[in-house]
Amino acid sequence: MDPKEFLMIPGPTPVPDEVLLEMARHPLGHRTKEFSKIFMAATAALKKLAACEDEVFILTSSGTGAMEAAIANTLSPGDEVLSLVCGVFGERWAKIAEAYGCKVERVVVPAGQPITLDLLRKRLQEDKGRLFKAVTVTHNETSTGVINDLQQLSLAIREHGALCIADTVTSFGAVPISFSAWGVDVMVAGSQKALMLPPGLAVVFCGERALQAYETSKCPKFYFDFGRYRKSLESETTPFTPNVSMILALKSSLDMIQQEGIVAIGSRHERMKKALRAGLTGMGLKLFVPESCASPTITAALPPASLSVDAIRRTMKERYQIRLADGQEELKNKIFRVGHMGYVFERDILMTLAALETCLHLLGYRCPSGIGVGSALTEIAALTGSPAK
Ligand SMILES: Cc1ncc(COP(=O)(O)O)c(C=O)c1O
Repeated sequence: MDPKEFLMIPGPTPVPDEVLLEMARHPLGHRTKEFSKIFMAATAALKKLAACEDEVFILTSSGTGAMEAAIANTLSPGDEVLSLVCGVFGERWAKIAEAYGCKVERVVVPAGQPITLDLLRKRLQEDKGRLFKAVTVTHNETSTGVINDLQQLSLAIREHGALCIADTVTSFGAVPISFSAWGVDVMVAGSQKALMLPPGLAVVFCGERALQAYETSKCPKFYFDFGRYRKSLESETTPFTPNVSMILALKSSLDMIQQEGIVAIGSRHERMKKALRAGLTGMGLKLFVPESCASPTITAALPPASLSVDAIRRTMKERYQIRLADGQEELKNKIFRVGHMGYVFERDILMTLAALETCLHLLGYRCPSGIGVGSALTEIAALTGSPAK
C-alpha cells in the first residue's frame, strides 16, 4: 500500500478533513433559505478576511475565470492597460486584456525579480495624459515564487488614477491583505490555494471605483456579468446555479481561517518559507529568489548541477508520494517549486526536506546527512525559541 499522495505544489493544496466532509453532504437547493444563510455567511467572512468595504462575488470557476471577469467588467475595447509582468501569471493578465481588445503595455522584469515601486512610478509619471485606465498586478507570482508589495504598488496606482486590478490567487488566505485601505479596485482569489479547498471556486472583490467603471464598461459579458451577481446578492443568492457543495466547504474553511486568525496564519507561512529556504540552502541548493521578495507560499530552487528537475520530482513521487512542481514555460526543467500554502505546517516542511535530501542522495548528490532538516530546525528555533510544530 502506498502512503497517500502529498501535494507540495502551488495548488491544488491539501484540504482539511472537515472541509472535505462538507462537500460529501447531499447538495442543498441553491434557492433555499438554508443555502442562502451559508452563502451570505461565506460572503461576509470573505469580506472580513480581505478587509473589503464593498462587494464580493463568489464565482463557480477557476482563478482565471475571475481574472477574465475582472477585465470584462471594468474595461472597454481600446482602453489602455499597463500590465506588470514578473512571470507567467502577470503575463496572463496582459493576454486576457488583449483578448478583450484593450491596448496593453507591459512592464517586464526578469524572472525571479519583483516589480519595484520605482519602476512603476517612473512609468506612471511618464503617462502625463493619464491614459492608462487600469494597471494589472500579480501579488504573488506563482511561476517564480516572488511576492510583490501590493500595498505600495496599489497606492501608487491610486495616485495616478488608474484602476488597480490585482491577482491574489496564491496569497489570499495566507497573507494579511487590506483591500480597501490599500486602494485595490478589483482583486481575485481562487479556492485551491490558501483557502484550503479543491479547485472550482473563485472570488472577486470589487471596490467602489471598479463598480463605477462597470457602469461604462463595454466588454462583452454574460455569465460573469458583475451586475447580475450584485443584483442577486440583494436577494441573498447567485444568478446561476453555484457549486453549492464547495460553498459549504468554503464556509467551513473560512471558519478555520477565522479561528486561527490571518495574522497568525501569515506568521505560520513566513516561518514555513524561512525554514524551507534554510533547509534547501543547508543542503547546498541555490534558491531562485532573494529573501527580500521571497513568497511566503511558494519556494523555487535550482537542482544541483548534476541532476535534472525531472529526476528529482520523479524520485520524490515514486519513493515518498510527495509531489513537487516543475518550473513553467521557459523555467521548465530549470527550477523546481515547492508549494506551502493553506493547510500546510512546519511538520510538512520538515517531511519534504527529509524526503528531498534522501532522494538527492539516491540520485548521487552528496550533502551531510540530516543537514536539510537540521538547518530548518535551527531556523525555526531562532524564529520561535521552540521546536517545530
Ligand atoms: C498567481 C496565479 N494567478 C492565477 C492563477 C490561475 O488560476 P486557475 O488555474 O485556478 O485558473 C494561478 C494558478 O496557479 C496562479 O497561481
